Amino acid sequence: MILEQFVEIKEQTQVMADPLDLLVTNIILKEHAPTEIYEIGTGSGAWVITQFKTGITAPEYVLIDDFSWTAKGWSGNRFWPQDELDLRNYVDEQTNHKLSFKIVNSDIYDYIDIMKSNINTVRIDMDPDHNGFEKIIDKLDDTGLLLVDDVVFNMGLNRIVNLIDFKRQGKIYPLWIGLKESAWVKNKDYRDQLYVSACNTIKENYDIGLTEYDEPYLNIDTWKYFTTRYHNFSEKFQNLKQS
Ligand SMILES: C[S@@+](CC[C@H](N)C(=O)[O-])C[C@H]1O[C@@H](n2cnc3c(N)ncnc32)[C@H](O)[C@@H]1O
Repeated sequence: MILEQFVEIKEQTQVMADPLDLLVTNIILKEHAPTEIYEIGTGSGAWVITQFKTGITAPEYVLIDDFSWTAKGWSGNRFWPQDELDLRNYVDEQTNHKLSFKIVNSDIYDYIDIMKSNINTVRIDMDPDHNGFEKIIDKLDDTGLLLVDDVVFNMGLNRIVNLIDFKRQGKIYPLWIGLKESAWVKNKDYRDQLYVSACNTIKENYDIGLTEYDEPYLNIDTWKYFTTRYHNFSEKFQNLKQS
């Protein structure tokens, strides 16, 4: 798929994500081939619906939300579910009833201890505290993939601090840092495997300005990961060179 298609699908689903991030996430998920996806902070299901429309369908989804945003009156001038039934109907309608999913209407802190272990893929789109975040990571399978949204300073500073802490403890390894989304893996060998396959696919097929970081930081540990370059800057720089 090309970037324009992600731009178009974002318009349709109103997902709170950058099309470039959607494109890279799509490639990583294709390489990872999720057997299940748990999304913590599902909102309207826009991210799951977007993945479906861009060719990712895991056999099973668990959509977790406590509807706290709804209770606070958030609508963001687009569809926002009032309750579980509303969310179920919307996801079904948008995916032609083709997704197998369960909705967990709960605060993640009440659910985390009874949540199953060895989960294959988790996406976090809310702001867990340090303890909750750690528990979520512990629930991931050894070759599990963790996607975390809003890893930018003016949106998710807590998430960044927590992720760096877990990285330093060797609990997770960065695979890719996008404009807003990020991908983390628990097992270093599996991270290297995904890094090579996903990164090569992106490099071979898309000109989206990836930057690679593979130098160990002070030789303490390897920080091999790739990032998406800030595209507006690249575009402006291109225009500057042409003028
Ligand atoms: C940023 S929105 C989700 C957007 C959606 N994932 C998307 O991509 O369009 C965050 C969601 O997390 C939910 N949420 C916030 N705190 C939560 C908690 N402690 N447990 C479960 N859900 C929570 C909110 O109700 C809200 O729907």
